[in-house]
Amino acid sequence: MINDIMKQLPEFLATTTEKELTYFIGNLCEEASEDVLLELTRLAMESRRVSYGNKVFFRGLIEFSSYCKNDCYYCGLQKSNLKAVRYRLTDSQILHCCELGYERGFRTFVLQSGEDQYYTDYRLCSITSNIKDRFSDCAVTLSIGERSRESYQALFDAGADRYLLRHETANETHYAKLHPARQTLKSRMRCLYYLKEIGFQVGAGFMVDSPFQTYETLADDIIFLRDFKPHMIGIGPFIPHKDTGFAHLSSPDIKNTLIMLSLVRCLLPKALLPATTALATADIKGRERGLFAGANVIMPNLTPVDHRKDYSLYDNKLSIGCEAMEGFSVLLQQLKALGFEPDFSRGDHLDFNKDEER
Ligand code: 5AD
Repeated sequence: MINDIMKQLPEFLATTTEKELTYFIGNLCEEASEDVLLELTRLAMESRRVSYGNKVFFRGLIEFSSYCKNDCYYCGLQKSNLKAVRYRLTDSQILHCCELGYERGFRTFVLQSGEDQYYTDYRLCSITSNIKDRFSDCAVTLSIGERSRESYQALFDAGADRYLLRHETANETHYAKLHPARQTLKSRMRCLYYLKEIGFQVGAGFMVDSPFQTYETLADDIIFLRDFKPHMIGIGPFIPHKDTGFAHLSSPDIKNTLIMLSLVRCLLPKALLPATTALATADIKGRERGLFAGANVIMPNLTPVDHRKDYSLYDNKLSIGCEAMEGFSVLLQQLKALGFEPDFSRGDHLDFNKDEER
């Protein structure tokens, strides 16, 4: 049966029920032969090639604040983690990161932080418009959590182009096991729909092998993505953090993450999918295995080196290597050797060419 599904995978993914999908994902993760998994990879690579050729896009990541008012149980930056070192970058430090990134060739800056109330709309709009004034050929992506519709609108009007807000899990019961009661899936989803209505290129996403995850919740993730059709989707393995309630869990291998990446690529051929830092942290070849599973984005870290260790979402999060200048040229060589084509344009979603609109 699995071979029949593989023959018409995109159609299957586009139409199937939660039940069938649950069974299929379970089968891929637990029983599928090497041949079937290879075929999945081939389909994902082909689907990416049709949309974006062999291009790999870059985003410079700036982790500008490690303060967070939330308590996501899996995350090292949760408010209850009193051991977490908190920092904030100043506006000029953030701009300086962009300058370094610009010199390196990046044309997208991702500003990410915990949910830090210090950053009022006024402050964030000013940071965003300063970056857009200074680097008018660049896209600004924000990844700063749940805010009001008015706030999202103000940030969009200030020039922000894209917004990343992982849904984390599309299953309400699962969501409730990963977050305190005041954080709800409903509220997350509401934010995602606001962002889309306003006109952002929107990113959703989830962890694979997170605590209490089942094949059914993964099927729910696929079905949510199928309906919502995000422009970007961040998928990475769950990695425990030593100062969280999930510290005792072990870090699984990345096989299931790669399977989910490939399925999502086949479902949404035009999506921008990062080979995430979590993937690179969990496996020494994680980044390239992610690209071979269908990813087409890499997000090198531009955060000042002395703060990187303090943006600790999970244990041993990578912050050196391809992030450093010398490391980055090695990465470019590696990508070329693997047959990928580093692309230094803004890397907008295919259906979304803002250069023409603005
Ligand atoms: N392991 C892997 N990913 C994590 N994130 C947070 N904590 C962890 C962890 N322990 C991810 C979440 C969040 C993103 C910024 O990092 O999915 O949305």
